Amino acid sequence: MSKKNKPIVLVTRPIPETGLKLLQTHCDVIMNQRMAPLRYSELLNKVKGVDAILCFLTDKIDKQIMDAAGSSLKVISTFSTGYEHLDVSEARRRGIKIGYTGDILTETTADIAIGLMLCTGRRLVEGDKYLRKGKWKYGWNPDLMIGRDLHHKTLGVIGLGKIGSAICRRAIGFGMKVLFTKRNFDPNDFKKNILFDKIEYCNLQRLVSDSDYIVISCTLNKDSYHLIDYDKIRKMKRDTYLINISRGKIIKERDLIRGLKEKLIAGAGLDVYEDEPIRSNNPLIRMQNVVLLPHIGSASIDTRNKMSEIAASNIIYVLKGRQDEAILIK
Ligand code: DGY
Repeated sequence: MSKKNKPIVLVTRPIPETGLKLLQTHCDVIMNQRMAPLRYSELLNKVKGVDAILCFLTDKIDKQIMDAAGSSLKVISTFSTGYEHLDVSEARRRGIKIGYTGDILTETTADIAIGLMLCTGRRLVEGDKYLRKGKWKYGWNPDLMIGRDLHHKTLGVIGLGKIGSAICRRAIGFGMKVLFTKRNFDPNDFKKNILFDKIEYCNLQRLVSDSDYIVISCTLNKDSYHLIDYDKIRKMKRDTYLINISRGKIIKERDLIRGLKEKLIAGAGLDVYEDEPIRSNNPLIRMQNVVLLPHIGSASIDTRNKMSEIAASNIIYVLKGRQDEAILIK
């Protein structure tokens, strides 16, 4: 990277200063200043001739975008841990490196899973709304907002990756019994896990039928797409809460809505949806037995600052030929 001819980086939405400053010391930064993502046509236009793109889950980076950027494009760095919005094999074919934010959001996202369990089971959001609407008339009341405990209940965790493990650790602290499922589970490997003998592996059938709370924390792929459908929901207990902090498409949302209407489960706590942002006519919005968050699993100040720094560093490392130091998709 010569000082005079700095590489050009397109940043598709504003990022926290930590990363922006880093980028600005090494590159010429073109940053979309709007909160809204660039439209696909705008993206096609803006990527022309850039050396790097810092993008988000909301940007689809496909072959056409890579074509539009041209041969100058060396690295795409996503401000996220998920990367299903990127055409990884196309980038690989062209020798374009792909950076992501790795495990930095693990603990923050695990917190939101526990938060959603408390919000649904213990009716925290409902209680807040009730009070603000002036409905709290008689002070302490023996049958007001009676919810369901976490302690001594069974949590079923779908996916024992980094986030799933962090959720299990928290749930053990809450006094829960923990079941989990995992793709390609290797019992011998699990013996080395610090959670061994604290949590129990089982198949998905048992997990859905035995759990009081179910948290989806697996990645979205062709096996997990619509993994939770009407058939699975029907097998859950009537007082189960279903929590999703991973990707919306793992639940067949139409089936969840049906299951909630038929009261097959007690409720749901969702941070992610099949289509984001959720539309105002989505029936979930009018349902009382759900808590809905706007995909904020990683949204803490510290984590977002670190994500910004990592997303920027990944670009700088690749452009400087120090890619061993970057967090790249292999
Ligand atoms: C991710 O990074 O994949 C999260 O879903 C958003 O922070």
